[in-house]
Amino acid sequence: MKKLWSGRFQKETDRLVDDFHSSISFDCRLYRQDIQGSIAHARMLGRQGILTPEETRLIISGLEEVLADIESGRVEFSKEAEDIHMNVEQLLIAKIGEAGKKLHTARSRNDQVALDMRLYLKEEINELLGLFKELQVALLDLAEKHLTTIMPGYTHLQRAQPVTFAHHLLAYVQMFSRDMERLRDCYRRTDVLPLGAGALAGTTLPIDPHCVAQELGFSAVAENSLDAVSDRDFVVEFLAAAALVMVHLSRFGEEIVLWSSAEFGFLELDDAYSTGSSMMPQKKNPDVAELIRGKAGRVFGDLFTLLTVLKGLPLAYNKDLQEDKEALFDAVDTVKKCLLIFKPLLATLQVNTAKMARAARESFTNATDLADYLTGKGVPFRDAHRVVGEIVYYCLQENKTLEELTLEEYQKFSPAIKEDVYQFINIERCVRARRALGGPSPDEVRAAIARAREKIERVK
Ligand code: ARG
Repeated sequence: MKKLWSGRFQKETDRLVDDFHSSISFDCRLYRQDIQGSIAHARMLGRQGILTPEETRLIISGLEEVLADIESGRVEFSKEAEDIHMNVEQLLIAKIGEAGKKLHTARSRNDQVALDMRLYLKEEINELLGLFKELQVALLDLAEKHLTTIMPGYTHLQRAQPVTFAHHLLAYVQMFSRDMERLRDCYRRTDVLPLGAGALAGTTLPIDPHCVAQELGFSAVAENSLDAVSDRDFVVEFLAAAALVMVHLSRFGEEIVLWSSAEFGFLELDDAYSTGSSMMPQKKNPDVAELIRGKAGRVFGDLFTLLTVLKGLPLAYNKDLQEDKEALFDAVDTVKKCLLIFKPLLATLQVNTAKMARAARESFTNATDLADYLTGKGVPFRDAHRVVGEIVYYCLQENKTLEELTLEEYQKFSPAIKEDVYQFINIERCVRARRALGGPSPDEVRAAIARAREKIERVK
């Protein structure tokens, strides 16, 4: 078939070139947005008297048929037609003849592809927000069950102070809530109609982009035609937000890997969400969590791909921009898959609460509380810190916990220590007493869960 742009050419395109620059193998997934945009464009051309009512009707019904053909698998896209835009146009012309050749009036593939990408991304952001919402609810449900499940909190991966499993889970709720905000923010800048910018300099025809924006559900119309066709900031913003989502999922994945090791033993993954070894019969591996961690890399790569594509581009459209698609699709697919699997992975895992509590009790996670106790008795914190350090050293020699020391032993280190110390350093009390905003006390965490639920409910 002849190229839609063949007029100026004396030769056929070399097969290698067709293969090299054709994007249909990946932009075919934009067929729905492409047709949706074309229908709105045709309707506007009709309203403006640029097309006759009959041409408009033919084009719109032809496009609807093309859509139905594609959806029922009756269409084989052609590489020679380069991309989804020209494939659809060719299919339309084959169906309705002359009128089909008028669809591209006052439009270029440059504003068309920018439109398709924005329509696509808006839908995907909404889907991702829905998946995030479900994951957040699963996290909050799990947290609710573990308000009093004590575990060690860590710094430097060394047991540090007692927290609860609920409190730890809520840290991720916060990360994901910021991720959701970033996605919503990115949505606002994606929600701008570029159609009408033409190839780069708009059109001399009397188009009406505002009514196209309204029909397609855009909140604004691009203000500069050169920018409209060369702007991919919205994709970069999405990829940056997606990269951060993957950082969070990856950190969580890493903790799940650690916690399900025999060394920690805090968790056991459900059989349905773990895998075995081809050689070692005893193995049960946290592959899913590992793979989530591993997939972060490709999304970071997607972000870098696009930043690098954009950095040296003169205005306005350049073919380099075609490279935005695989990066965006890959990031969308990857984040979606990770969010989708994370929810049941969490909802089905077994928590070894006894092991978590033991880890908190065995490792002096209440040492700061003992120092706080001393400061309450008037000892300056710096001195209290040193005294407790000495007590811990003594316990290590004697193979005892702080709770196991006798009062006489305590008083050898500081006469300020009295009988009430035992109550003060009791792990449950240590957690309960951390009731400042954002702390692990069950009351505070319960309130934080309620606040998070309320916030989540507001996401449509
Ligand atoms: N397939 C192209 C892309 O993805 C569509 C726009 C082509 N425009 C052009 N002037 N060659 O960017």
